[in-house]
Amino acid sequence: MKVDVLLGLQWGDEGKGKVVDVLTPRYDVVARFQGGPNAGHTLEFEGQKYVLRSIPSGIFQGDKVNIIGNGVVLDPALFKAEAEALEASGHPLKERLHISKKAHLILPTHRILDAAYEAAKGDAKVGTTGKGIGPTYTDKISRNGLRVGDLLHDFDRKYAAAKARHEQILKSLNYAYDLTEMEQAWMEGIAYLRQFHLVDSEHEVNGLLAAGKSVLCEGAQGTMLDIDFGSYPFVTSSNTVCAGACTGLGIAPNKIGEVYGIFKAYCTRVGAGPFPTELFDETGDKIGALGHEFGAVTGRKRRCGWIDLVALKYSVMINGVTKLIMMKSDVLDTFATIKACVAYKVNGEEIDYFPYDITEGVEPVYAELPGWQTDMTKMQSEDEFPEEFNAYLSFLEEQLGVPVKIVSVGPDREQTIERYNEE
Ligand code: GDP
Ligand code: IMO
Ligand code: MG
Repeated sequence: MKVDVLLGLQWGDEGKGKVVDVLTPRYDVVARFQGGPNAGHTLEFEGQKYVLRSIPSGIFQGDKVNIIGNGVVLDPALFKAEAEALEASGHPLKERLHISKKAHLILPTHRILDAAYEAAKGDAKVGTTGKGIGPTYTDKISRNGLRVGDLLHDFDRKYAAAKARHEQILKSLNYAYDLTEMEQAWMEGIAYLRQFHLVDSEHEVNGLLAAGKSVLCEGAQGTMLDIDFGSYPFVTSSNTVCAGACTGLGIAPNKIGEVYGIFKAYCTRVGAGPFPTELFDETGDKIGALGHEFGAVTGRKRRCGWIDLVALKYSVMINGVTKLIMMKSDVLDTFATIKACVAYKVNGEEIDYFPYDITEGVEPVYAELPGWQTDMTKMQSEDEFPEEFNAYLSFLEEQLGVPVKIVSVGPDREQTIERYNEE
């Protein structure tokens, strides 16, 4: 059996949680492969709304196995809060959720270091989610990290050593903090985590595949936030791209099947960093208002702009996307004209490839398409799509060279339309 991967092609918040939930019935296993509680994946069904941060979005559908892979960084305190809320809402998960022993732990001091590093950067700050993501991955790469598997042996000593090391750094940064409350919640989280199946997830996933089971990998963040290929240094600290599913779960590259690339019909970004198609006018405000563009976790206002096909083409290339999924089409329902960036002007020269640096002097070149000016939110099939909407889809498919297989017309599970087009 092959493994399919679903990941974001823009700067995150494309709607990954919603679509993973919709696709889950077709799979036996759903697995997260990177990121941590910086993610906020929203699902809506039966009048309820849920936001998942570390738990895979396959958790609501039947008895599917959900795995938190080795590439994920886990904060036990936040995990406990998230899992307990789900259990309280009638979704028991202890038997269905397996956690890799190789996943790294976010310590309270990692969160403080995140804040301290951001403060030290001043105006150049990344605008992180403040969840300790960067410092935790830094410790992983510098071989100082604490892993879930460490819970099983000599944990207190290892924790104390890591904390002491962090406190040294904080002292050198002259950063004032109070750990007491955070540490208590964290220790409660550690005790809670011990009740779960802590597994060698690479063996589990490969064993399931050998037994003919199907796996859907759920990405967090988006390609433009990838540590290698994103708008560095305004990125997250993991590989959000398809290759991250291989390293974050122990899946061999030749086992990857479909790569679902998900994008919004426009574009958003939260936090600092370049965003060539960002709109600072009332059109941007209108997209933000209609799309409710506020962070699922932090509540921060998301910056809004037109779709950027130069960046999307790059994402399609890096990930080997085989199927596209377009989200939030309904947000553009009332626009008379829709713009799509097809090239960048850099120093007066037009380029159609994603350059090394997009920090400054990048001016978007737009194609303009007529809007469909039709309420799409109740549509059930592509037969109902307005002509102008079909023209927008065809334009995107032509530019990106990949078919759009799913269109989302609202936040609810039911507001999802699969297209019949065959490659
Ligand atoms: P994720 O991080 O990729 O899972 O996305 P988020 O959950 O952070 O952000 C997507 C937001 O858009 C959530 O509030 C969703 O409920 C909402 N959403 C998803 N699909 C659609 C859609 O097609 N139309 C509208 N209007 N909202 C959507
Ligand atoms: P989901 O999975 C949108 C952004 C932050 C910041 C940068 C680095 O919901 O799409 P970090 O805390 O990771 O060190 O922050 O990345 N960021 C996200 N933006 N969606 C996310 O996740 C994000 N996770 C991190 O805003 O700019
Ligand atoms: Mg999100």
